[in-house]
Amino acid sequence: ELGDIGKSLLTGRQVVVTAGPTREKIDGVRFISNYSSGKMGFALACAAARRGAEVVLVSGPVALPTPDRVERIDVESAEEMEEAVTRFHQSCDLFIGAAAVADYRPETFRAGKIKKNNETMDIRLVRNPDILAGFAAQKTPGQLAVGFALETEGNEAYALEKLQAKQLDMIAFNTYDGKSSGFEVDTNQITLFTADGTRTELPVMEKKEAAKRMLDALEKMLEKK
Ligand code: CTP
Ligand code: CA
Repeated sequence: ELGDIGKSLLTGRQVVVTAGPTREKIDGVRFISNYSSGKMGFALACAAARRGAEVVLVSGPVALPTPDRVERIDVESAEEMEEAVTRFHQSCDLFIGAAAVADYRPETFRAGKIKKNNETMDIRLVRNPDILAGFAAQKTPGQLAVGFALETEGNEAYALEKLQAKQLDMIAFNTYDGKSSGFEVDTNQITLFTADGTRTELPVMEKKEAAKRMLDALEKMLEKK
């Protein structure tokens, strides 16, 4: 659909998207991670590229092909993801944090393979940097910061808290019901909240369609900038 190019406010803008899970190493053969498939982030990157944006997709380990006209940077840990994103802090017009970043990582990494020993084992975890909040905290008025909040049903308030706490322009509240919405599935039910107080509830739809609807809403916000 090269025909889409040139008709959008996103044309020529730099869009940076994080996607997928992160992996936090315990030792040479083990890690802590989550079930994120990366589908929502990849759908957003794909849709933005079709609108002519210059897209950088910073992805954790996922089993998805790179969308056309997208620059993909593969990372593993949250710290690596942050390092990659920071390179685009100044240049990007729109940052979308769609990755399921591990909140914690093991305090120490042990090379090789840890042998089993006692009946119990403790792994001390330390907080990872918040990649999205880090971008939002330094952004200039012309830049947009967008996040996701995957919460169990009825927990919209948490999404609103995150919108405010991270100083975002928009947050996509994503209900996790394990079936039609959330990790690994192709569909999603999202509600968009913006910093200026709007609430837009979208029906359950394909993640690809949800990505387009999010970009439509973001284009309207860019128009006002
Ligand atoms: N995020 C991030 N870096 C982190 C944690 C989260 O960039 N270290 C981003 C995610 O990509 C998402 C948003 O922040 O866009 C919200 O992530 P979420 O896990 O829902 O919220 P947290 O702030 O981590 O709070 P909690 O997990 O306690 O609900
Ligand atoms: Ca989290």
